[in-house]
Parts: sequence; C-alpha cells; structure tokens
Amino acid sequence: MTEDRTPAVAENPEAGGEEQPQEFKGRKNGLYSGVSDELAASMKSGWADTELHGLEPVAQAPYAAERRARLSAAFPGERLVVPAGNLKVRANDSDYSFRAASEYVHLTGDQTEDAVLVAEPTGDSGHVFGLYLLPRSDRENGEFWLDGYGELWVGRRHSLAEQEQLLGLPARDVRRAAEELADRAKSGTVPTRIVRGYDAGLEAALADVLDAGKDAEFKEFLSGLRLVKDEWEIGELRAACAATVKGFTDVVRELGQAVATSERWIEGTFWRRARVEGNDVGYGSICAAGAHATTLHWVRNDGAVRPGELLLLDAGVETHTLYTADVTRTLPIDGRFSELQRKIYQAVYDAQEAGIAAVKPGARFRDFHDASQRVLAERLLAWGLLDPSLYDVEKVLELGLQRRWTLHGTGHMLGLDVHDCAHSRREEHVDALLVPGMVLTVEPGLYFQEDDLTVPAEYRGIGVRIEDDILVTADGNENLSAGLPRRAEDVEAWMASLA
Ligand code: GLY
Ligand code: MN
Repeated sequence: MTEDRTPAVAENPEAGGEEQPQEFKGRKNGLYSGVSDELAASMKSGWADTELHGLEPVAQAPYAAERRARLSAAFPGERLVVPAGNLKVRANDSDYSFRAASEYVHLTGDQTEDAVLVAEPTGDSGHVFGLYLLPRSDRENGEFWLDGYGELWVGRRHSLAEQEQLLGLPARDVRRAAEELADRAKSGTVPTRIVRGYDAGLEAALADVLDAGKDAEFKEFLSGLRLVKDEWEIGELRAACAATVKGFTDVVRELGQAVATSERWIEGTFWRRARVEGNDVGYGSICAAGAHATTLHWVRNDGAVRPGELLLLDAGVETHTLYTADVTRTLPIDGRFSELQRKIYQAVYDAQEAGIAAVKPGARFRDFHDASQRVLAERLLAWGLLDPSLYDVEKVLELGLQRRWTLHGTGHMLGLDVHDCAHSRREEHVDALLVPGMVLTVEPGLYFQEDDLTVPAEYRGIGVRIEDDILVTADGNENLSAGLPRRAEDVEAWMASLA
C-alpha cells in the first residue's frame, strides 16, 4: 500500500503561509514535512471539470421510492433517520471494506459510506425524503489530495447533483447532518427515530430525543418491509443464484487442486468467480471437507480435502447491488458417493424435496421445516439411530430427538442479508403464512459428529446439507438455484462431466 496519504502539514506550520490547508493533519512518520505555497497553488488548478450531466436514475430508483412510500405511511408525523453506516478502522489508515446497512440500501438503492436518509414529516401526514452524502472533495482547500479520504486517494465519487439524478432524492452535505438533525429535533416537537447500530456519531447527536423502544420498533418495521420481494429484487436474487452456479462449477472443475492444497483453494476459487464478475460473497463461504462438514459454520477453511470424503460447500454470490444467494451442495470429493454417504445423502435429499413441496402461498412458514424434519426423523428411526421400540415418529418430533443430528432450522428468508428480515415481528415471519414474492432457503441436513458415540463408527464425521433458494410464486414455488444438480446421480454425472 502506498504510504504518506497525508503530508504533515499541520505539524509544520512554517512550511506554509496563510493558504495552507492546516486542517489536514499529517501522518506522524510521513516523509513530507509540509506543502510549499507553490505546490499548494499548483494543486488547486489545472483540473478539468468532470461533472456528469443528464444521468439516468438507477434501475432500483422507482422500487426504492415505492418502499419509502410504505415507510412514510407507517410513521405519519415522525422524523425517520436511516444511516448507511461508517467505515471501520482496520489498522491506522486502512479500513475494513465497507458494506452499507441493508435498511439504507433497501430504501435508496445507494451504498455510499457515511450517508444518511432522512424522512421529514409534512403537514399532510406524508414525508419529504432527503439524503445526506459526502460531496466531491474540495480542490480549493486541498482536501482532495491531503485528506486520506480525498478523492485522489480513494477515487472519484459522485457529486451531490449527480447523486440527486441517480437516486431521485435531494442531497445535502453529510458533514452537516448531525448538527442540522439535532437542531431540528431539539427545536421542534416532531418525534425522531433512528435505525441504531450503524452511525454512533448521529446516535450521540440525537441521544436526548431518541427512545430505545421506538427505535427497536422502527428496525422491526424495516426488517418486515423486506419480507416480500418486488420484481426488481427477484431479478437480483436470480442473478445471484446464476452467479453462484458458476462459482460451484468452477470449484468442481478445480477440485483436483483443492485435493493437492486445502479447503482454501475452494474458498478462493468461489470468491474469484464472484469478484471477476464484479460481485462478492454474501457471507463467509463454508468449504467443509470431511468431518468439517459437521461444523455448521465452518469458515476457517484450512483443512485437507481427501478423496473418499465429502465436501460440504455452502456459498453464495452477493450481487454488486448486495442481494445474496445461499446455496449448499454436498459433493463426493472423488466424484462418487460411497454406499453409506449415498444413504445419508438420499435422506437429506428426500427431506429437502418434502420441504420444497411445502413452500407455497398460504402454507405456514414453519411447514417446510416440519415436513423436512419428519422425513429425517423417520429415517433416523429406520436406521435404528433412534430406537423404534421406544419412540414413534410423532414422539421423536414432539421431543425433538432428531435434532441431535439435524441441528438447525430448515431455512430462512433470503435477500439483502443472508438471514434476511431477521428483526421482523414473529407474527409476520415465522408465525405467518407464506405469500408470493417471499424468497427463502430450504436446507435440511444430517450431521454425525466425529465424537458421537451414539452412532455406529462409520457414520462419524459425515455431514450432509442440501440448500436451495426458493421463491414463493402464485401457485407454488420456483427453485432459483435449480441450475445446480441435487439428486445423487445427477451430482455424480455433473462432476464427471467437469472432471
Ligand atoms: N449459509 C449459512 C446459513 O444459512 O447459516
Ligand atoms: Mn442458509
């Protein structure tokens, strides 16, 4: 990484005259001690005007406007503040890569760090929406090259006028947001809510007028607002699944390299496919070979990949618009399932089939979970892992005894977050009925831990999960990740075709 982001201007006042950009503090060990008047003058001028005009709104803009209208209707007379979040320091002057808050992205179609969406109530119980954003860097005061976040260091950003055209919202300088919002909140009687957890500075500025309970309600509402996807979002989830299919295909093609190296090769291969297409991954890829497959969120990915064992790959591409897939395939590393692996795989497949069949409008959210668990409980009884002389399937399910090996819920909502809508109200989510436009995963699994003395030794260290992304349609469902084979023999044929 290039050093000397910020010359030590402020530490060496003699180095400059009155026009020096004193506000930009230099690095303690910077090699340049200051900026001469001549250099400062040079850097101010000789730059082309690159302002963009006549920009088309982003494709998401009308959908975001519709979501804001629903938000406005739910909170008449209240000021609503939705921050995108801030960069977090990784070390010194390098930051973690930024990922905007899903609530902000959903309502704006934008992903800019530090940004804030504000809904200001109007007299007719509607709202005027506006953005606070960081403008382009000032060239007159040297900010663009002397500040570590100046555009010369981090790249050109859109001007406020450009953003207004792209997003269809008026935009103001975010450096005034805390002061302006605090002034308005303290001088009037309009109640203010904020989505907490993303912008500590704004929360501190508004602390006197905020109410934790009301803010929690606000977050709950915004999470629930994402339960049903609009057609644009469904398109993005389709794209995420299509890109994920390519990532899995690359992994299978390169399994030989993984055998020669480690699970890391698999993680890197999937991520490379995401990145070369301008995307990212929606969560840490789970590249679990052998007994690692029995660890639900195995993201260390540093183990050996051995022929004869299974690879559980749970990975999803997140589009550049931040919608993610979440797909799992369990693959025989040498291309063919052993007899026992096939038996366990078939049980999980059958459980997934039963689960997917239960995804339809009017079904309860938990129906697909119950359907999958029933199949797995039956199979565990048939194999004698649960004693059929003590329990029938109803009793197993009532006591939840199958959970020793099924471990987790059979699925979750999917969207901007991999576990989407996690903060929504139970009554509109797990205790609700499915409606068209919902997208959820169906992902049953069986996991036999290496140290589980209650199962025969040959089961130990085997983990199988199959996961697909299912859209609820008007008359049933559509598997958005059907591009990847699922049946054992189809998986084998697919792997052979790529070998
Ligand atoms: N894909 C990881 C999970 O659903 O927890
Ligand atoms: Mn999942």
